[in-house]
Amino acid sequence: MVKRVYQMSEQEKKELLKRIDNDLKKTLTQKRYLHSISTMKKAQELAKKYSQDELIVMLTALTHDIAKEMTQQEYTKYAKDNHIRLDWFDKIQGMAVHGKIGANIARTKYGFTREMQEAILYHTTARANMTMLDKIIFLADKTEELREGESAEKLRKVLDEGDLDDAILYDIDYYTIPRIIETNKLIHPNCIYARNDILARKLESWKSEKVEKIINILFQPNSYLKKGKVEKNESRFSISRWPELKELHI
Ligand SMILES: [Fe+2]
Ligand SMILES: [Fe+2]
Repeated sequence: MVKRVYQMSEQEKKELLKRIDNDLKKTLTQKRYLHSISTMKKAQELAKKYSQDELIVMLTALTHDIAKEMTQQEYTKYAKDNHIRLDWFDKIQGMAVHGKIGANIARTKYGFTREMQEAILYHTTARANMTMLDKIIFLADKTEELREGESAEKLRKVLDEGDLDDAILYDIDYYTIPRIIETNKLIHPNCIYARNDILARKLESWKSEKVEKIINILFQPNSYLKKGKVEKNESRFSISRWPELKELHI
């Protein structure tokens, strides 16, 4: 029986990190291995910035591409032997399969928790209601220092200046979806769910900020409303009386 990560001491988690590192050295190409190490370092940096458990984040990031270099036949066999359901999308376009298989390996071989498995499972597609761990793994994978190109550069900048949601939204809108359309591929439904979820929450918070500003303008100490400076036949709430409201585009 594999010991579960949540039952491990900090020392045992560090030993597991070394064990996974050794396994990856043996099974991945050097390029993929270096990408895994670099993703782990970036994820650790984000874990520090966002006050997350560093060892959990590092273990997950290091393992995220463990299944990436299996062949199609190996995927099919592994999925069959381990009762992993490959859906219609996986059969047409296999981009998310290594996440599914990787999450299973992480559980059966290393005792990863459900949260860690899910971050591996969704690291290519994202999903609605992403956890902090999902977000960190998704972004560390795309912004680690070995990733070259304009899109990685821009995403790093957004991640430095904004929050995790800003960066995920930026990646989906300006990189992932345009690239999928250009190459005539399918957009994974989870990618659309992730975008809608983040955008809907952002729109909600923008709306409530707006309402708060309106209340502040209307009920500030010197407000017209309090002083009662309303001309005859003019509504107290006429926008023409409230230049500040015009700026809010309501
Ligand atoms: Fe991957
Ligand atoms: Fe990766």
